[in-house]
Amino acid sequence: MSNLPCIPSPPTDPPAYGLATVAGATVPKAATDVVHGISELRALPEVAQKVRDIAADPKGTVGDLAEVITSDPALASKLLKLANSAFYGLPSQVGSIHRAIVVLGFKTVQNLALAGALCSIFRGAKISDSFTGHDLWKHCLAVAVAARNLAKRAGACNPEEAFLAGITHDVGVLAAREAWPQKLAEAIASAQGGASFLTAERDRFGTDHTEVGLALTSVWRFPDYLRIVCRFHHAPALASDQFPTHIRAVHLADWLCTRKRIGFYLTVPKGPACQDSLEALGLTKADLAEVRNSLPDDIREAERIFA
Ligand SMILES: [Fe+2]
Ligand SMILES: [Fe+2]
Repeated sequence: MSNLPCIPSPPTDPPAYGLATVAGATVPKAATDVVHGISELRALPEVAQKVRDIAADPKGTVGDLAEVITSDPALASKLLKLANSAFYGLPSQVGSIHRAIVVLGFKTVQNLALAGALCSIFRGAKISDSFTGHDLWKHCLAVAVAARNLAKRAGACNPEEAFLAGITHDVGVLAAREAWPQKLAEAIASAQGGASFLTAERDRFGTDHTEVGLALTSVWRFPDYLRIVCRFHHAPALASDQFPTHIRAVHLADWLCTRKRIGFYLTVPKGPACQDSLEALGLTKADLAEVRNSLPDDIREAERIFA
């Protein structure tokens, strides 16, 4: 076992909380209750629902996906910018969504479309006196970019799945903002004072953003890998053997981006990079340093695309 920050969650109480089990993770009652009590965030943006449904439908076609994306000009524009960006380095210009799907692949475009469709949920009220929803978006976008790079470098899991997992990993914080704005602001202030953010959340909510994120993404009927990353990105050692490389890529990316204080940076305790996660991905500290060094340029590019 390794250095921090592979910190396991304090023991929850499965018999008391125990509700549904999702891909090996119990959705605690406290987290489910809060998600059922919020209305704004529970309703996934319509275009995201449509992309999710096409992704889940074995009969979903390129035409279906292209139609949904082109029905939302802002999303279509993001996807074309992405297809023509340095992330893919394609030799010729991609001029249509159909062409983007052909060149990048159906699954890749599905994942990117869902990521693009989720931008809007990060808008709105502050999450504390010091941080806005945009700071959380900046953090999640940076984690997405870093997780994609780590997954690509490791050849361990689909890089676009790692990207989408990065975008969604902290959605539990958004749910907490809607459910308990004052308590969330207090938990953040406590973390700014040096406390563990997860402990500060549990002390005030009786749950934390990882469990709430699992409950929320379950209500959204998101794929298992996204739900599992929401739940275990701070505690990969507690996860079962499902999607270990997705979890480890996001865990390391989260560490990198919080160490660099990008956006909302308070969720990861101080400590060195998780050696177990590096080993699980077959990466070295030198790999991590290279991903860290390329982050500023990569994030600038991602912000240009997803603005
Ligand atoms: Fe987190
Ligand atoms: Fe995070």
